[in-house]
Amino acid sequence: MRTVCLFFANIAALLLFTLPASFAKEANTVDELIAMFDDSRCAECHEEIYKQWQDSWHSKAIVSSLGGMRNFIAIGLSKEWKTPLTKTQVLKCLDCHAPAVNFASEKLAVEIGEMIVTAKDKAGTPEGDKAKKELARLSVGCLSCHNIKATAVAIGLRKDPEKGKVYGPNGQDSDGHESVETVDLSRSVFCMQCHGIYKAIDGEMIQCNTLSGSYQNMYISAGGSQTCQDCHMKKGHLFPGGHDLETVKEGLGFQVEIAPYRHLPGKIPGVKDSKKWVPSAVITAFVENKTGHRVPDG
Ligand code: HEC
Ligand code: HEC
Ligand code: HEC
Ligand code: HEC
Ligand code: HEC
Repeated sequence: MRTVCLFFANIAALLLFTLPASFAKEANTVDELIAMFDDSRCAECHEEIYKQWQDSWHSKAIVSSLGGMRNFIAIGLSKEWKTPLTKTQVLKCLDCHAPAVNFASEKLAVEIGEMIVTAKDKAGTPEGDKAKKELARLSVGCLSCHNIKATAVAIGLRKDPEKGKVYGPNGQDSDGHESVETVDLSRSVFCMQCHGIYKAIDGEMIQCNTLSGSYQNMYISAGGSQTCQDCHMKKGHLFPGGHDLETVKEGLGFQVEIAPYRHLPGKIPGVKDSKKWVPSAVITAFVENKTGHRVPDG
């Protein structure tokens, strides 16, 4: 009996030491958090997609929005609402800008919030630059979409995503990972989780942009049939939008109609030559919104 117990104790000890970080419930350091959702290994086999992602706004989703986030923490929470910085508050921005932070411990999430303030307020100093470099590792990464958010549109129906698995449109396994097929990934609602409204656990609703609302109420309700992916993934994972001139041009239709005519004003007393024909034109310009939502937005 004793040996059996010892045997089990050994297995337990072995498990404790060999369990990968991805099974730990919460990360206590940024390194642990990165290890849980390690995107760097995706580059080994999906080199092209990885490069596109690196050039997309999704890969910079904290560092390109530092100013706004710093103001939310350092001015909004701290000065205006006199509310302590907690994980719940941090997630009001980072659930969309860096979803992995959902898996940070309370302490780490607060540290990340503080890093945002340091990175902005001490920009240019070694301390500020170090914080920014650390934050740059957090963003909307491969597994933010292909795991964390892949089933989140309908958790009740689809269950929580399983750690370590990759959710994709076809569910094709590979040497790199087990894959799970999810239709949600190819639907607009998948994008609308982040390009729409976030409901915090304290009930507050956060909306960074109103795009999903106008997609649904102005485009789909008027008979529009294209998904976000149809228009924004034509170049794969680059996700071009308002920062890309070509995409902006694609979104605007411009048409001008000119109807020339000659105009005879008739006799105006005191005005010389007022009975002459004057060349005139009616110019009508049509500016058409060809996107699936309001423009501009954000
Ligand atoms: C519902 C998801 C969501 C939440 C919550 C959220 N954001 Fe955003 N945020 C977005 C998306 C999506 C964009 C990109 C919008 C676009 O380009 O039209 C964005 C854009 C931004 C930008 C502009 C970035 C740029 O490059 O121009 C800033 C700044 C920003 N967010 C700050 C914040 C702050 C501060 C918070 C927390 C109070 C927050 N966001 C919460 C989804 C969210
Ligand atoms: C903003 C969300 C998002 C991010 C970030 C993202 N993907 Fe995707 N990915 C998608 C969606 C949505 C599809 C499915 C598109 C469709 O409907 O076919 C997809 C499809 C794929 C596919 C299968 C189809 C194809 O294009 O070959 C692969 C492989 C893939 N992604 C890998 C990656 C890798 C690797 C990364 C990180 C470098 C990444 N994705 C980052 C949303 C994302
Ligand atoms: C050892 C190589 C390898 C690694 C590492 C790898 N993949 Fe894949 N992945 C593949 C192959 C092969 C396929 C199937 C063919 C294809 O779509 O390219 C695939 C398919 C996919 C798909 C589509 C699944 C579907 O629905 O059919 C997605 C999404 C994906 N990978 C994402 C990722 C992400 C995210 C990472 C990093 C966490 C990653 N891959 C790491 C090789 C790899
Ligand atoms: C996990 C949250 C998340 C998901 C899911 C997501 N996005 Fe984003 N997306 C963001 C954030 C945050 C930004 C803004 C990054 C920044 O500028 O700081 C962004 C930026 C963009 C941009 C660039 C906007 C610009 O101003 O140029 C486009 C286009 C875009 N997303 C389209 C999509 C589409 C299409 C999908 C669905 C396939 C999607 N996103 C899914 C969070 C998300
Ligand atoms: C019919 C094609 C089409 C559909 C459908 C569509 N978009 Fe767009 N979207 C565009 C074009 C074109 C632009 C560039 C226009 C501009 O920003 O001036 C754009 C711009 C954007 C931007 C940048 C906004 C800004 O103000 O800079 C984001 C983010 C975005 N789309 C996300 C989405 C999401 C999320 C969906 C689905 C809910 C979606 N789009 C559906 C065509 C489309």
